Amino acid sequence: MTRIKDTNENWRAATQLVRGGTQRSGFDETSEAIFMTSGYVYDTAEDAEQAFKGEKERYIYGRYGNPTVTMFEERLGLLEGAKHCVATASGMAAVFAALASQVKAGDRVVASRALFGSCHYIVDELLPKYGVHTNFVDGTDLIQWERALSEPTAAVFLETPSNPTLEIIDLERVAEMAHVAGARLIVDNVFATPILQHPLELGADIVMYSATKHIDGQGRTLGGAILTNDDEFIDDHLTPFMRHTGPAVSPMNAWVLLKGIETLKIRVDRHCRSAGIIAEFLADHDGISRVLYPGLENHPQYDLAQKQMAEGGTMVTFEVTGGKAEAFRFLNALNIVDISNNLGDAKSLTTHPATTTHQRLSEEDRAHLGITDGMIRLSVGLEDCEDLLEDLDQALKAMTH
Ligand SMILES: Cc1ncc(COP(=O)(O)O)c(C=O)c1O
Repeated sequence: MTRIKDTNENWRAATQLVRGGTQRSGFDETSEAIFMTSGYVYDTAEDAEQAFKGEKERYIYGRYGNPTVTMFEERLGLLEGAKHCVATASGMAAVFAALASQVKAGDRVVASRALFGSCHYIVDELLPKYGVHTNFVDGTDLIQWERALSEPTAAVFLETPSNPTLEIIDLERVAEMAHVAGARLIVDNVFATPILQHPLELGADIVMYSATKHIDGQGRTLGGAILTNDDEFIDDHLTPFMRHTGPAVSPMNAWVLLKGIETLKIRVDRHCRSAGIIAEFLADHDGISRVLYPGLENHPQYDLAQKQMAEGGTMVTFEVTGGKAEAFRFLNALNIVDISNNLGDAKSLTTHPATTTHQRLSEEDRAHLGITDGMIRLSVGLEDCEDLLEDLDQALKAMTH
């Protein structure tokens, strides 16, 4: 479907998020319509034939496309500055489709080690089952990237900032090396959000999101998206994969995401402001041995974060000195902040990665990634920051008593 006439590619992000890609039906509705339909009808058999032969552009079937889904794709595509956006049923469907659609037995995939658990499973266990060779590198070590990308490679996959240690990977340098090896660079931009980091501008070929996180931002639905300017990837790989394997997002969920994204910028701005204040508060607090926040000057890749991200992000990771027992005492003492493995939500959420999101990894792998038993990941929400500081303070006090 084509964009509506008055969508303007030069609009700034906040305008794009509210208006980009809107298509009104004949009823002139203000809020975008939900087209709850799995199929479409044709006036004549000749029309159906033309549609199936690709001679006429129109909706054919819900697995291929839907007007509400198109509005979400157009809006996110305009924000990202990407020619193509393909929505998926979840973030994991986006990761899998981005990788599996383009690799074949005998190909090589190189990935950063610090990945979300399910992404790690796809690279480490699933792709090798289909004969794809996969290699992990420490994402912040450019020498390891250089070595791994000295042989022909089909795809490179990484996450920056990473989950949960908030490592920052140099996108420009890795993109250059990936291209020399013949690979497309796929970036999981979930932690950065499309507001804070634009991987396509830094040389990445494909960006993907779990829209479940900040894009919905209110804990209501799963969703995902793949964005790119690469016509060949879309035409030869992703479109046929999506059509025939069926990871399409439902129109209802696409509508929730379409309305959620309207407030993405103001939410991310507020999340970041509070996250910065909380990171500084935690850095000064007794009982905490380490605070990882890309906006703090003592972050190991602070200069790089300043260069490739607009702000420090919405997540703060920290370590309590007393290991798992203290971490659990802290989590159980929280009154406002919820214990949850989700993130990017209006509600502040916190998790203990070693026993939840990263429990599948071996103890050795966790140690290699710096995921200790005292580590806590906090997704900073939209509550009043003073209330959050008071809640964290009382839980830290309860932890040591
Ligand atoms: C960095 C990252 N990528 C991908 C995903 C998967 O997203 P979803 O849960 O929407 O499938 C997550 C979910 O936690 C994530 O944190």
